[in-house]
Amino acid sequence: MAFPKDFLWGAATASYQVEGAALEDGRGECIWTRFSHTPGNIMNNDTGDVACDHYHRYADDIQLMQKIGLQACRFSIAWPRVMPQGTGATNPLGLSFYDRLVDGLLQANIQPFVTLYHWDLPQTLQDRGGWVNPDCVKWFVDYADLMSRRLGDRVKNWITLNEPWVIAFLGYWHGIHAPGIKDRNAAYKVAHHLNLAHGAAVPVIRANSARAKVGIALNLTPGYSATNSAEDQRAAHWYDVLNNQWFLDPVFKGSYPAEAAQHLGSVLDGIDLASAQKAAVPIDFLGVNYYSRAILKASSQELFEFVRPEGAVFTAMDWEVFPVGLTQLLLYLKDNYNPPAIYITENGAAFPDPEPKNDLVDDPQRVSYYKTHLAAIETAIAEEAPVKGYIVWGLLDNFEWTYGYSKRFGLVYVDYPTQRRIWKSSAHWYKRAIAANAVVE
Ligand code: FCB
Repeated sequence: MAFPKDFLWGAATASYQVEGAALEDGRGECIWTRFSHTPGNIMNNDTGDVACDHYHRYADDIQLMQKIGLQACRFSIAWPRVMPQGTGATNPLGLSFYDRLVDGLLQANIQPFVTLYHWDLPQTLQDRGGWVNPDCVKWFVDYADLMSRRLGDRVKNWITLNEPWVIAFLGYWHGIHAPGIKDRNAAYKVAHHLNLAHGAAVPVIRANSARAKVGIALNLTPGYSATNSAEDQRAAHWYDVLNNQWFLDPVFKGSYPAEAAQHLGSVLDGIDLASAQKAAVPIDFLGVNYYSRAILKASSQELFEFVRPEGAVFTAMDWEVFPVGLTQLLLYLKDNYNPPAIYITENGAAFPDPEPKNDLVDDPQRVSYYKTHLAAIETAIAEEAPVKGYIVWGLLDNFEWTYGYSKRFGLVYVDYPTQRRIWKSSAHWYKRAIAANAVVE
C-alpha cells in the first residue's frame, strides 16, 4: 500500500527538550529550568541547560533532516527566548534564532510546523500564577501575535498548544511536571484557560499569516474495557470522557461533557464552563499525539482502575505497543468530531537502544513500531479518516522531561558528551519509507 500522494512526512522536536542555551542570548528563565534545577524532580537531576545544543547546531540538524528526506519539521518556540519576561519587551536575538531556523528549513524544502506552546512557560508568568491566572489568555494571545507577525509570511502551519492534558494534569494536579503544583481545582482551571487561550489565538494567527493552517495537538489515549462486563465498559467510558472528551469537546463543540462536569462538581469551582464556547473556533487540522492505549476495569473507589495487559509488548516508558488503537482512535475522531484534517503530530517509542557501533544504532523495535503504526494509519485512511501527514516523535534523543536523558525516542541518537548525531536503523528505514511514500520492508 502507498499513502495519498500529498501525504506529509516529518519529525518533531520541542524547544526545551533540544535547544539548550537555556539562559543564553537573553533567554528568560522558564518553568522547566526552575523545575529541573530543583533537586529530586528529574531523573539523575538532569536539566535542559544544554540538551542537544540545537540552538547552536540547528544548521547541522537541518542538514540531517534533509538527508533523512523529511518534508516537515515540527518544532516549538521557547516563549521566554522571544519574550524573556513573558509579556512586553521582545528579545531580538531570540527572534532572529527562529528566523534562521525557519529560513533554513524552507531552504531545505522542509515545511515548518510551529508549536507555540510546548510547555516552557516564562517563569515570570508562573510567578503571577501561570495558567491558573485568567490573564494568561491575554499573555498567550500577545505572544501568538508576536510570533505569527514575525514568522507568518513563511510559516503556514501553526499549532497553538501541545497536549493541554499534560500541561494541566501533570503540571498542576499530579505535580510531576513543571510547575509541580498539586491542586486538582487549579488543574481544571488551567485546562479551561488553555482552551480559551487556544480559541483566542487562532484568529490572531490567521490574521497575521495569510493562508495559514492552524490546529492544536492533543494527546489522546483510547480507553478499552478489560472485559465485556457492563461495569468494565462503563469504566472505560469514564476514562474516555475524563481524559479525551474533556479536551476534545471544548475545541470541537464548545462545551464540556455534561456527565463529567456533573461528576466533578466542586473540582470545577470558579470555572465558567459555558465560556468553553469561545474555544470552539473552527480549526484547520487536529494534531493527534498517539503513543498507547489504556485498559480499564471497574473499581469500588474510583470511576475506573487501570489494568496491565498480559503478554503485550511494552516500550521503555512501560507503554503498551498497540497500533490498532491508533486506527480505532482515528475513526472515533472522524465519527465523533469530524475534523477537517488530521496530522499525526507525535508517534514514536523509547526503547533501550544499544550503544552505537560502526556509526549506527540498531533499533529494530523502533522500526517495527513505526511500521505497524503507519500501517494502522493506512487502514484508517482507507476508511476515510482525513489523515494528511505523519510526524514522528522525535527527530533526536533529547531531554525527556521527568525522565531526563534516560529515555531515547530519537530517529537519531545523540551522544551527549560530544553532541555527535548518529543515525539509528529507524532513521535509515524512515528515509526509505518517505522516498517510497509507503510502509516499506
Ligand atoms: C509527549 C510530549 C513530547 C515527548 C513525548 C514522548 O507527551 O509532547 O514532548 O516528550 O511525549
